[in-house]
Amino acid sequence: MEKLEKEFNEKFGSEGEMETFFAPGRVNLIGEHIDYNGGHVFPCALSIGTYAVARKRNDHKIKLYSLNFAESGVVEVDLDNLSYNDSHDWANYPKGVIVTFLQANYSIPTGFEIAFWGNIPNGAGLSSSASIELVTSIIVKELFQLTIEKIDMIKLSQKAENEYIGVSCGIMDQFAIGMGKRDHAILLNCDTYEYFYTPIPLDEYTLIIANTNKRRGLADSKYNERRNQCEDALQALKKELDVKSLSDLTKAEFENYKYLIKDPIAQKRAKHAVYENRRTVEAVEKLNQNDIESFGQLMNESHRSLRDDYEVSSIELDILVEAAWKEGAIGSRMTGAGFGGCTISIVAQKGIDFFIERVSAAYYEQTGLKADFYAVDIGDGAKRL
Ligand code: GLA
Repeated sequence: MEKLEKEFNEKFGSEGEMETFFAPGRVNLIGEHIDYNGGHVFPCALSIGTYAVARKRNDHKIKLYSLNFAESGVVEVDLDNLSYNDSHDWANYPKGVIVTFLQANYSIPTGFEIAFWGNIPNGAGLSSSASIELVTSIIVKELFQLTIEKIDMIKLSQKAENEYIGVSCGIMDQFAIGMGKRDHAILLNCDTYEYFYTPIPLDEYTLIIANTNKRRGLADSKYNERRNQCEDALQALKKELDVKSLSDLTKAEFENYKYLIKDPIAQKRAKHAVYENRRTVEAVEKLNQNDIESFGQLMNESHRSLRDDYEVSSIELDILVEAAWKEGAIGSRMTGAGFGGCTISIVAQKGIDFFIERVSAAYYEQTGLKADFYAVDIGDGAKRL
């Protein structure tokens, strides 16, 4: 924070009152590719995230600077011209949020300046983009004393990502980052936005994130393709069934009516969605009964389903997950959109160092890549500091 404040003063001058903010990253424990299928997800906010220092200006200029992209310098735009610009790169995320607030008729009468610094590894599927969106939302709210609920900031941040950035993500990331609560995961119904906090005091277990360090190639186009395949499957089912989303179906209903989905690929995608939604609800029930073993097994099933039916895993993710299974993880799966990024595992506390050493060695041997490991520390949602 000190370094960030110092940089802020260097870039923007030290006059006037600055305020500080934070938004976390997130990791999803189970319920993958379900948010846009109207079902349940179970993410939590991380203690790593995006820090920001911000201050109002007297003119209409918006100045954005990130310590993570120091070489790009300060991106300067005008409140009256915030159109998307490729050359602005990362700064399009905060710009998108500002645009979305303006479109929703929130009053932003003057410009402002922000310096960001984040410690979420980029492109690792831990939602660095949603983190920067939510921190910007909080900044805009606080600087201009807007009356806006958290849930609306979450929705506007998602809208910025959908419409301004052009990635058709669901609500999960922005929701987890907005609503996160220390030491809790969130069971969110993505249809109704009803949510419950579940304490994650795993006692003798730890959640470990392993980063493949393989950037997610083609992730956005494949992501949108999966969404379309699910939509096609839903339309096929709707010919006979009165359902709003794939998550409305029970597993038995799906098995009875899957013949309606003629395209075998779309049928596999739909199977994942239906089963994963049910699996998520069951997994949280198990957790509430303190049955970590069963929770872990459901995580493993989730991975197999993402690998075989949804086909969003990658060689690197599979190698990490299989090594984790072999080294005694209670559960392990890819997390986030897939095609690279991270896995999440539950590991017995006492064997963690050995686990990391073994999984790391197996991964290096099979891929020539070095994985990074982080013990998950579940933190709070986006806030003013
Ligand atoms: C990305 C999207 C989320 C969600 C996950 C997959 O993180 O941003 O909305 O769909 O992928 O579960």
